[in-house]
Amino acid sequence: MAENVMVASNAMEKIVALCKRRGFIYPGSEIYGGIGGFWDYGPLGVELKNSIKREWWKSMVYQRDDVVGTDAAIIMNPEVWKASGHVEAFTDPLIECKKCHIRFREDSIEKVRQKILEKISKGSRIQNISLSKKETVLAITTTGKCPNCGGNEWTKPKTFNLLMEVFLGVTEPKQKAYLRGEITQGAFVNFKNVVSSSRVKIPFGIAQIGKAFRNEITPGNFTYRSREFEQMELEFFIKPSDKEGNKWFDYWKDQRMQWYLSLGMKKENLRFRKHEDNERAHYAKSAEDIEYNAPFGSPRGEAGWSEFEGIHHRGEWDLSRHKLAYKDEEVGEEFTPWVIETSGGVDRSALFFLIDSYYEDDKRVVLKLHPKLAPIKVAVFPLLANKLPLVKLAKDIYHNLKEQNIGMVAFDDRGNIGKRYYSQDEIGTPFCVTVDFQSLEDKTVTVRDRDSMKQERAKIKDLGLLITQKLL
Ligand code: GAP
Repeated sequence: MAENVMVASNAMEKIVALCKRRGFIYPGSEIYGGIGGFWDYGPLGVELKNSIKREWWKSMVYQRDDVVGTDAAIIMNPEVWKASGHVEAFTDPLIECKKCHIRFREDSIEKVRQKILEKISKGSRIQNISLSKKETVLAITTTGKCPNCGGNEWTKPKTFNLLMEVFLGVTEPKQKAYLRGEITQGAFVNFKNVVSSSRVKIPFGIAQIGKAFRNEITPGNFTYRSREFEQMELEFFIKPSDKEGNKWFDYWKDQRMQWYLSLGMKKENLRFRKHEDNERAHYAKSAEDIEYNAPFGSPRGEAGWSEFEGIHHRGEWDLSRHKLAYKDEEVGEEFTPWVIETSGGVDRSALFFLIDSYYEDDKRVVLKLHPKLAPIKVAVFPLLANKLPLVKLAKDIYHNLKEQNIGMVAFDDRGNIGKRYYSQDEIGTPFCVTVDFQSLEDKTVTVRDRDSMKQERAKIKDLGLLITQKLL
């Protein structure tokens, strides 16, 4: 196990380094020493995130006739958060080191403690119990010592609210408001507007993508637990009945899992996990997470499996708290709809797509990203940088492909051709087009496939169509 932990943490180090080196993700405000829990996406990272969001929106809105989109404001009337229960219940149980005042999630510490005790009761020796790095830190904490300062005095568990406060206006007293802790509430407060301004009828959904903010006490594992992050959510409104609730809950679970698989995530790295009664959010009647087998310990103390999307049965919680109802005009019936929610994280998805697609052998590092997610769709090279006719033709092809609306196209004439291929492999570019001397004669080029490394000759005039078809 010690070896596994090393391999896993090594994998994470490689991903983090690649993200920085190639322009996927940088630490936020880095030139000022960074700021915990905030990350910036570079030129390739923003493409990856945009692709994830575009594919999500396609499958959740464009390809359906029962879902519409909205984009609500990040700051809402604070009454929204009182009604939704977040002011009262959006909390984490924490213990605080009395010496350095660092706080740890008490629930995760308790889970690790239970794991250790259970193994010891089954006869394991303490030094043989396998723990992830984070678990080890937590285990040290449970033995009494603070991993930050070595202090050994702790407060009793206290709850801390995760909503981030902001203050509006320029004159005192300023109005206190919150940065939204989930994007969800925007769909509920606009429920009436959407029903009256569009032609939706129950069952129907409201889809949203946007930033959410949480005062996470222990941000970490790269972007996995951030204080600012992006969510992609569907609130699906149904008739209030157990039969409907169960049907749509299962339906959306399946749809969401299929979406990750359709974009190439490996089946063996994904699983569902049902929430136990004591861990469900205050709004949920039932909940299941989609978890990824990550190369870091999960917050629940179980190495690997970490949630990145939740399917939540919110029942009538939100609409009834906001005192909203729906009138079925056809039968003249008024009721409070139930809600099935799918709530995914754009940043966690991006991270897991990167981890899942990472491949290396003794020759090259490859991000085997699904072409739909690859930041750069195609790269164009002249075989030699000092042969003007080759460079000119390659530039023409590059500009032409850019005009065909297939996404980012790169041009590279540095170094030798092998290095250029490997450089594109490392960022996941699925296709590389090379202009060689034959191209000048017969107007064909080679198209190299990232995964098989096979090259086929194609007519220059067919390139746009060929690449578009491969991106479908
Ligand atoms: N509306 C329901 C809701 O917000 P959640 O399980 O608290 O549910 C949904 O969050 C998703 O948002 C998570 O599955 C995760 O992908 C993402 N998320 C939550 N907290 C996050 C954080 N601190 N950093 C990055 N992503 C986060």
